[in-house]
Amino acid sequence: MNRNPHVAVVGATGAVGIEMIKTLEQRQFPVGKLTLLASARSAGKKLPYKDSEVTVQELKQDSFKGIDIALFSAGGAISREFAPIAAKDGCVVVDNSSAFRMDTAVPLVVPEINAADVKWHKGIIANPNCTTAITLMALYPLHAAFGCKRIFASSYQAVSGTGAKAIAELERQVDQVVKRQPVTREVYPHQIAFNVLPHVDSFLPTGYTKEEMKMENEGRKIMHHPTFKASVTCVRVPVYRAHSVAVSAEFEKPATVEAALEVLKKAPGLDVIDNPAKCEYPLPLYLAQRYNCAVGRLRKDCAMDNGLCFWVSGDQLLKGAALNAVQIAEELVK
Ligand SMILES: NC(=O)c1ccc[n+]([C@@H]2O[C@H](COP(=O)([O-])OP(=O)(O)OC[C@H]3O[C@@H](n4cnc5c(N)ncnc54)[C@H](OP(=O)(O)O)[C@@H]3O)[C@@H](O)[C@H]2O)c1
Repeated sequence: MNRNPHVAVVGATGAVGIEMIKTLEQRQFPVGKLTLLASARSAGKKLPYKDSEVTVQELKQDSFKGIDIALFSAGGAISREFAPIAAKDGCVVVDNSSAFRMDTAVPLVVPEINAADVKWHKGIIANPNCTTAITLMALYPLHAAFGCKRIFASSYQAVSGTGAKAIAELERQVDQVVKRQPVTREVYPHQIAFNVLPHVDSFLPTGYTKEEMKMENEGRKIMHHPTFKASVTCVRVPVYRAHSVAVSAEFEKPATVEAALEVLKKAPGLDVIDNPAKCEYPLPLYLAQRYNCAVGRLRKDCAMDNGLCFWVSGDQLLKGAALNAVQIAEELVK
């Protein structure tokens, strides 16, 4: 891999794309040249990068000639169509959509957990589901120490997880409610302002949603743990940015709170904020725009043997998307 790669961001104008550009700059990724791609609607738009601006180009079949690394965040359909074309042109794709995550020929990577999997890529590397990535930042170190059998979890997912349009929807609805105007909906099936929706992604015949099953399916692949089980309820909440997850985890080995705390304090990319007496625990409001995730509310689970409960929060636009993608790109140029 070129040490100063030509990098493309596909979906550069979106909620994740904007964060990818910022993250490349903030982490001083050695970008040789930056190409920004989006739909025809955005062609000609200028986006800031370092001290200048880069003009957005329309994504086309021949967009990837000469590009070394392409960070994709324009949805599954675009990834399915264009990622194989980019890979054929010799570009390494880091894909944020769910299109290739469970493909056995595609590594699915959280660098703090399975960075070595980057090595066996064949042109496409998948970035995990945001809720799964944030949960695993706390769960994986505990699994490595005590052997996780299964988890029960509920997520509290920010609207920015649905993209730029959903951020605008929450803003508009809050304004409408405050002004006592009729609330209008475009993105979610129900009002999200001053409400919570136990519905993220589409429903499966089992009654779970696709999003809920990503925790078990992607968790197994990332942790190399084929028997890992996860029963999850995913909930959309009127938070702009940063997801939180309440987890009850059952382990093979006995796990005391003290031993778990020692493990979590040493975990990369994770802060421990756990002082209930002072009302200190991870809060999405304060984890927005931060690279590290945070864990707290650690306690013995009173309903199972060898169980621990915890609460983990993290910026899903960063660790759940842009940051993780740039970290994968960093592995590629190492
Ligand atoms: N939001 C998150 O927290 C998050 C986390 C993990 C993964 N992801 C995944 O990342 C992807 C993008 O999510 P997002 O939240 O950033 O969505 P978004 O804000 O709606 O942005 C979508 C991006 O895709 C571009 N796009 C749409 N149609 C296109 C086309 N036909 N050709 C080229 N570009 C096109 C858009 O360009 P225009 O502006 O020109 O329309 C925009 O740049 C999705 O696959 C999502 O599942 C999102």
